Amino acid sequence: MAKIKKINHVAIAVSDIENALVFWRDALGLSVDHVENVPSQKSEVVFIPVGDSEIELVHPTSPDTGVAKFIEDKGGGMHHLCLEVDDIEEMLTILKSRGVRLINETALELPGRKMAFVHPKSTNGVLVELYQII
Ligand code: CO
Repeated sequence: MAKIKKINHVAIAVSDIENALVFWRDALGLSVDHVENVPSQKSEVVFIPVGDSEIELVHPTSPDTGVAKFIEDKGGGMHHLCLEVDDIEEMLTILKSRGVRLINETALELPGRKMAFVHPKSTNGVLVELYQII
């Protein structure tokens, strides 16, 4: 049976990456591993390792994304929590069978990973992302 392995990352929506780094990098002393442009998500993502997990600063590169709308509505902040799973397809099937509402009924494939979002209506208001490293 599919199992959750760990928290892969916590994503924070930011309107200005340099301004966000004043806290996450400069004040806390965390190091940026790399910055990635993710065209499929229309965003730029700063990867900051924290132990075995990561903080991702997500900056939208287009106004028509969920993250851009989130920043417009709330001014940014914690956007989603990502759980790493060993078998995402099986986990999605299990969640569906347990009445959980999914944003992505099937996993999307990105370089190095498969991902799907669970609807916050089924998670006490937290947008949950599922990841399988491939
Ligand atoms: Co994410």
